[in-house]
Amino acid sequence: MASTLTHKSTLTLLFSTLLLTSPLPSLSSDPDPLQDFCIADLQAPVSMNGFPCKPASNVTSNDFFFDGLAREGDTYNSNGSSVVYGNVLAFPALNTLGISMNRVDIDPDGLNAPHSHPQATEVGIVVQGKLLVGMISTSNVLYSKNLTGGQMFVVLRGLVHFQMNVGEESALIYTAFNSHLPGTAFVSSNLFGSRPSLPDDVFMKAFQVNKTVIDQINSKFG
Ligand code: GLV
Ligand code: MN
Repeated sequence: MASTLTHKSTLTLLFSTLLLTSPLPSLSSDPDPLQDFCIADLQAPVSMNGFPCKPASNVTSNDFFFDGLAREGDTYNSNGSSVVYGNVLAFPALNTLGISMNRVDIDPDGLNAPHSHPQATEVGIVVQGKLLVGMISTSNVLYSKNLTGGQMFVVLRGLVHFQMNVGEESALIYTAFNSHLPGTAFVSSNLFGSRPSLPDDVFMKAFQVNKTVIDQINSKFG
């Protein structure tokens, strides 16, 4: 009896110690920074997960400010939309900080086409206009809603999502991410604009259509 109790207490102690010492699961996307700042040296000859820091002695106030999202992007394209990226590549001060932002402008009837961000969860706020905002789960369920100024949305990491202007005026959205480089894969150009291109047989099987249809779609993205 005494030995069973001792065995039980040893197991309990072992289990509690394991629980206390194992790292807690993190909900953030990028890892935490190891220093105050690390302004990315985008020209560094080394390639790594993130970017090396430019020497602190060369850092100035200007490194911490970015006005790239102040201006409307060019929406003169087949989608009638534009995404201006405020990620580490545009704003090197974001290097290692695990955050970034975009500005999205969409003309009436325009579309920010279905895409996903492999490295980040996204939140957005509609500043102006009326938009159909949607996201598709891995169970193929579409969650969508019409949003107007001041309303927010969230897109779960890696899920395909889009925004379509369903109003009469130009729409403006600001989006934010828990990664300094969320990555963006537009479904259509990812599939039909890849280099080298996917074999026709893959498309025909996946979409259950003939080569004429595939050639037609390919001609738009090739
Ligand atoms: C919108 O979906 C964005 O990625 O900025
Ligand atoms: Mn997005």
